[in-house]
Amino acid sequence: MLNLPPLPYADTALAPVISSNTLSLHYGKHHKGYVDNVNKLVKGTDYESSTLDRIIIETAGKPDKTSLFNNAAQSWNHSFYWNSLKGNGGGKPNGKIAQMIDAAFGSYDNFRKEFSATTVSQFGSGWGWLVLDGGALKVVKTGNAEVPFTKRQKPLLTIDVWEHAYYLDHQNQRAAYVDAVINKLLNWDFAAQNLG
Ligand code: FE2
Repeated sequence: MLNLPPLPYADTALAPVISSNTLSLHYGKHHKGYVDNVNKLVKGTDYESSTLDRIIIETAGKPDKTSLFNNAAQSWNHSFYWNSLKGNGGGKPNGKIAQMIDAAFGSYDNFRKEFSATTVSQFGSGWGWLVLDGGALKVVKTGNAEVPFTKRQKPLLTIDVWEHAYYLDHQNQRAAYVDAVINKLLNWDFAAQNLG
């Protein structure tokens, strides 16, 4: 039985970039819906007591398990997304991750532009990610529910670019939403924690 993890902050914490209206619907309807679907799909199967990570890894790329993969991966992605954000976040990080950004992208400003451009250019629904790949930082995008860790990339931060993440607050202005998240909401403490 999978539980919906609590939001790590109040639903007003990310306003005005992400309003409490968007956050409460996104968490309480979309995220909850994915978790509820996983619980329905695993009931009475071998996956009933599996961890979410294990379900995702074992169902990825299996055509007869698409529905379980999609709902499990979306459950995981949304928990990761909430933790990737915080009020008064964003901007240039400090410490080891700042050095790794300079090594991989040349400067924070180059990183910011590449993360934005890659995330905004995801065609249709999906996710933009900062990942660790073979010891170096990279920015990548995935479609729909896809997760980087099935391709041996370790996620550090993510931005949801499904329309439900931004349409109430920014309508069709996906770039305005993505840039505001990068500049004001990214949780660099969470990224540093994921570096290990
Ligand atoms: Fe979402």
